[in-house]
Amino acid sequence: MPSSAAIRVAILGFGTVGEGAYRMLEDNREAITRKVGRPVEVVGIGVRDLTRSRTAPRSLFTNDLPKLVRREDVDVVLELIGGLDPAASLVEQALERGVPVVTANKELIAKQGRELLSLAGRHHVDLHFEAAVGGGIPLVQPLKHQLAGNDVLKLIGILNGTTNTILTRMAVDGAGFDEALREAQELGYAEADPTNDVDGYDAAYKLAILGSIAFGRQVPVDQVYREGIRRVSQVDMHFADVLGYAIKLLAIIEPAHETLFARVHPTLIPRTHPLAGVDGVYNAVWLHGDFVGDLMFSGRGAGSDPTASAVIGDLIGVARDVVAGQSGQPILWGEPIDLLPIADLETSYYVRLNVQDRPKVLGQIALEFGHHDVGLSAMEMRVIDRKRELGEIVFLTHRCRESDFRAGLASVAALDAIVEVCSDFRVEA
Ligand code: HSE
Repeated sequence: MPSSAAIRVAILGFGTVGEGAYRMLEDNREAITRKVGRPVEVVGIGVRDLTRSRTAPRSLFTNDLPKLVRREDVDVVLELIGGLDPAASLVEQALERGVPVVTANKELIAKQGRELLSLAGRHHVDLHFEAAVGGGIPLVQPLKHQLAGNDVLKLIGILNGTTNTILTRMAVDGAGFDEALREAQELGYAEADPTNDVDGYDAAYKLAILGSIAFGRQVPVDQVYREGIRRVSQVDMHFADVLGYAIKLLAIIEPAHETLFARVHPTLIPRTHPLAGVDGVYNAVWLHGDFVGDLMFSGRGAGSDPTASAVIGDLIGVARDVVAGQSGQPILWGEPIDLLPIADLETSYYVRLNVQDRPKVLGQIALEFGHHDVGLSAMEMRVIDRKRELGEIVFLTHRCRESDFRAGLASVAALDAIVEVCSDFRVEA
């Protein structure tokens, strides 16, 4: 390749992320050329539908994506389609041809990252995926390199911008769930199917990726415990606030008993914790490493521009390697690790009950939990309906085993005075 020749890029997919990546290459062309040492040129864009109006020259577009990947003059492929099909086979084809790939595809990396990294290694090409986790926040590279010497003792993330936007709007403005979701969709944060966001799949993919890098073993995404935010109500937000907590969808991974707990669920987190103030589309990862201590990264976790920033950062790294005629060594993930079941977790809990508002009820509840080694640490109550003698009680528990908590809660639910177990969430101390 002549020393002035451009690095030639094929973009697969021109949705929120693809369009943003193209625009960043155009807007920051001069700075990028200076940093790479040669111009970086988009030579083709693969899309499914050629009839839609686009913000790039028509001549660049094709709907024959396999042909675009096979083009002899392509130096780097950006896979920005999302999902497994056809993204997985296009990435494989590129790697097998010795063409480096940058992807923003969390589902692909969470489910097939180990195989794809090993394929990239066999063909001595780069495979980068900074944009797959946390939008514009540098997370993958710091975990792979600067923090790699640490034993990570705990990692907690707010990894989904859509759910964080929804929870923030509910907490701060009293917005309804549907209204807040629609807003996140309009801002281009939500996945094509919002179930992926709302029910915690997206955060679980991202947690599995971060965990696989941080712990050097593949974290099987299908074993990550997962609950979404549909059960969180305004009433819970109110009581959490009174008790000094925020409710966030947290993704948590930590070593225990020679393996790991990995879980995604709505969680009460003390207002004093740095993650409690991470609002709206902002994502954050807090971790504790044995040598580095506490550390937190935060920034915009979804949307066209921040995600493009991560994609183009990876692309510049790969382009520099192409210029130098070398390949970065993709790190390899070790064998999959069997995760611990949630029943073995030890943590604290928040419970909200509707009860018959009469004497002895509190004592009965405390006694039933006590039979299962679950101690209560805080309580709030209010009368809902004086005439019908209905009340609402909220408890926090001391740390206990999840299986004991579930058994205790089932015994409490069976008491005559309990009208309904309205909600229960885990609490992060
Ligand atoms: N739907 C994702 C989110 C997009 O809301 O965080 C970024 O991965």
